[in-house]
Amino acid sequence: MATVLVTGGSGTLGSHVVAILRERGHDVRVLSRRPGVGTHHGDLSSGEGVAEARRGASWVVHAASDTHRFGSADVVQTQHLLDACGNDVEHLVYVSIVGIDAIPFRYYRNKLRCEEIVSASSTPSTVLRATQFHELLAMGLGAVSRLPVAPLPAGFRFQPVAAREVAGAVAAVMEQRPATRAPDFGGPEVLELAELARQWQDRHQRPRRYLPVPLPGRVARGFREGRNTCPQHHQGVQTWRQFLAESPR
Ligand SMILES: NC(=O)c1ccc[n+]([C@@H]2O[C@H](COP(=O)([O-])OP(=O)(O)OC[C@H]3O[C@@H](n4cnc5c(N)ncnc54)[C@H](OP(=O)(O)O)[C@@H]3O)[C@@H](O)[C@H]2O)c1
Repeated sequence: MATVLVTGGSGTLGSHVVAILRERGHDVRVLSRRPGVGTHHGDLSSGEGVAEARRGASWVVHAASDTHRFGSADVVQTQHLLDACGNDVEHLVYVSIVGIDAIPFRYYRNKLRCEEIVSASSTPSTVLRATQFHELLAMGLGAVSRLPVAPLPAGFRFQPVAAREVAGAVAAVMEQRPATRAPDFGGPEVLELAELARQWQDRHQRPRRYLPVPLPGRVARGFREGRNTCPQHHQGVQTWRQFLAESPR
């Protein structure tokens, strides 16, 4: 049994990581900015409370991210965490995204820089990249589906995966020795966004119609070429259709 600090332990992925590590008997701490949400109150952007939350924890899962602002605070946040870890930590697992080195999206550039500083630090670490979570695609499709005609980037491809299955992989990697990079973790199938949207429409009976919008630029080309997918790593089991069937209408 280990004492583990999970940053982002209140988020979509992190909350599953926390539950799985606790089921396996570990003593799990959760850092959150929101009072009363985690076991430890703190803010990775300012560094407040981070050293206190880390002290005595020999393992760290770093799943916090400034997801609502393209990760613009992620590098600073990751550096504050690494400063609090130094070489007192046996293993830090950093959760990242498949294809961030192939698609020049602003969020991905910030994530790539985080991977670099994690790997270059004195803290023994493993980076685990995953494909997009079902939950993320559901949030995006849910937002556009409120419109009578919903615009969709034409030709984008995804390999959606259940966040709880990625969390299982994070927990398994955490319990192994640091390995710099773990194998990528992807969902069971690569699908075009138009097909994901059709399945959403089957389940939710909205929107009335989708409007495919061709987008210019290298970022859009990366998503059309499926650089964000890893078809050779399709360990995820739950399909998008199964996820939709389990979600409330
Ligand atoms: N979503 C995807 O499809 C996907 C796919 C592959 C990899 N990933 C990666 O997986 C990780 C988790 O993603 P997610 O979608 O689960 O994120 P999320 O639900 O948006 O949760 C973000 C978490 O970060 C924490 N956080 C943000 N700023 C913080 C700060 N200044 N100090 C302390 N905590 C802070 C939040 O905690 P509080 O609000 O409680 O403070 C929250 O728990 C990210 O690194 C992401 O890049 C995501």
